[in-house]
Amino acid sequence: MSDTKRTATLSFDGQSFDLPVYSPTAGPDVIDIRKLYGQAGVFTYDPGFTSTASCDSTITFIDGDKGELLHRGYPIDQLAEKSHYLEVCFLLLYGYLPTATELEDFEERVTHHTMLHEQMQYFFRGFRRDAHPMAIMVGVVGAMSAFYHDSTDITDEWQREVASIRLIAKMPTIAAWAYKYSIGQPFVYPRNDLDYASNFLRMCFAVPAEEYEVNPILARAMDRILTLHADHEQNASTSTVRLASSSGANPFACIAAGIACLWGPAHGGANQACLEMLKEIGTPDRIPEFIDRAKDKDDPFRLMGFGHRVYKNTDPRAKVLKQSADEVLELLGVDNNPLLQVAKELEKVALNDPYFVEKKLFPNVDFYSGIILEAMGFPTSMFTPVFALSRTVGWVSQWKEMIADPQNKIGRPRQLYLGETLRDYVDIEDR
Ligand code: ACO
Repeated sequence: MSDTKRTATLSFDGQSFDLPVYSPTAGPDVIDIRKLYGQAGVFTYDPGFTSTASCDSTITFIDGDKGELLHRGYPIDQLAEKSHYLEVCFLLLYGYLPTATELEDFEERVTHHTMLHEQMQYFFRGFRRDAHPMAIMVGVVGAMSAFYHDSTDITDEWQREVASIRLIAKMPTIAAWAYKYSIGQPFVYPRNDLDYASNFLRMCFAVPAEEYEVNPILARAMDRILTLHADHEQNASTSTVRLASSSGANPFACIAAGIACLWGPAHGGANQACLEMLKEIGTPDRIPEFIDRAKDKDDPFRLMGFGHRVYKNTDPRAKVLKQSADEVLELLGVDNNPLLQVAKELEKVALNDPYFVEKKLFPNVDFYSGIILEAMGFPTSMFTPVFALSRTVGWVSQWKEMIADPQNKIGRPRQLYLGETLRDYVDIEDR
C-alpha cells in the first residue's frame, strides 16, 4: 500500500472530509473510509460489496476487464500449462515458486497427511446415504477441529502451518469418501505413490475387487481443474472464511464455513446447476426456448455457467478448461454424448446472441469443469465438492495471510436500518 498522501474529499451536510487514497500495485485506487463514521457520523452502503475492498492482500489479482488472473504475479494460463496443483499450492501459501528441494519436501508433507483419523469413518457413516456430498463435507471438515486438537490454536504459527497442510492433504480423501459413502462402496484409502490428482481419482473410482489404473490424461485434466480453481481473490466463500476467522475461530470451522458458502448455485454450486440445466434442456432444438427464458426479465431463470461478477471479458480459466474439455471428450470418445452436444451448441448460440454479448456474459469456469467432470464419470452432486477441494488452498492461504496481519480485527459490517423505530410492547390480549 503506497503512502502517496493523496486524499479524496467527501462533502456532506456542508462539511468536507478528507479520506486517504491508497495505490495498489495493480488495480484501482482505494479510498480509506475507516475513520468516516467517527468523523462524519455516516456509514457507506454497499450490499454485495461491489465497490468495497475488504482487506489488503498479496495473493491473487484479477483484472476482470482484461480477463486476467494472477497468482503471486504469475498468470493462470502459464501456471495451468507449465506448473501443477501442488506447486501452485506452494506458491499461494508461501508467495514464491519453490526450488526442486522445497517442492519435494512440500509434496512429501502433503502426501503424508492424506489419511483421516480412523474414527472419522463413523462420522461419515452417521449420514443418510442420500446426503449431498457437500453436506457431508461441511460436517466432516467442521468436525476436524474435534479430531486434530493440536492444530487449532491460531496464535501458534506452527499449528497454523500444520492445520494448513492437513486441510489441503485430507480434503481429497474427505470428498472421495463422501462420494463412496453415497454410492454404498467401501472407502478407498489414499496411496503415497500417487500424485495428488491421481490419488483423488483413485479414491473416487477404485474398488477393492480389482486393480485401478489412473489414466494420465484424466489425471492431468483433474490437476488442471484443481489448479484453475485454487484461488480467486476475495470471492464469496473466501470472504466467508475471512469473516468467520476474524472472530478467532479455529481453521477447520472457518473452512467449513467457506464450503457452506461455496455450495450456493450463484457460486461453486453453479457447476452442478449448469449440468442439471443441460439435462433439462435435453436436446439442441430446445436451446432457443431456454435462451428466451434467460433473456426474459419476468423469468428468474438464468443460464447457469454464464456470467461472472468480476470477469466482463473471457474468464481466463474457462479458456484453458475448454481445451481440457476437448481433450478429455476425445480421449473418452464421448464427444457425441447428447448432453455434451447440448453444451457445445448452447455455448455457440449464447456467444453469438446480442443479449449475452452486450451484457458480457461469457461461459465461466463452471461451464467447462462440469462438462469434464461429467465425462470423467462424476455425478453432478460431486462437482461442487471437487471445487471445494481445489479452493481449499486458496481459503487456507487467505486465512493465513489474515491471521498474520497485525491490522486483523473482527469483521463487523453495519447496516442501513429500514425497520420500525422505537415502539412499546403490546400485551397479547391487546393485539
Ligand atoms: N443468464 C442470463 N442473464 C444473466 C446471467 C445469466 N447467467 N448472468 C447475468 N445476467 C444478466 C442479469 O439479469 C443482469 O441483467 P440486467 O442488467 O438487465 O439487470 C446483468 O446480466 C448483470 O447481472 P448481475 O446479476 O447484476 O451480475 P452479478 O455480477 O451480480 O452476477 C453471477 C454474477 C452471479 C455469476 C451471474 O452472472 C449468474 O447468476 N450467473 C449464473 C450462475 C453462475 O454461473 N455462477 C458461477 C459464477 S463463477 C464461480 O463461482 C466460479
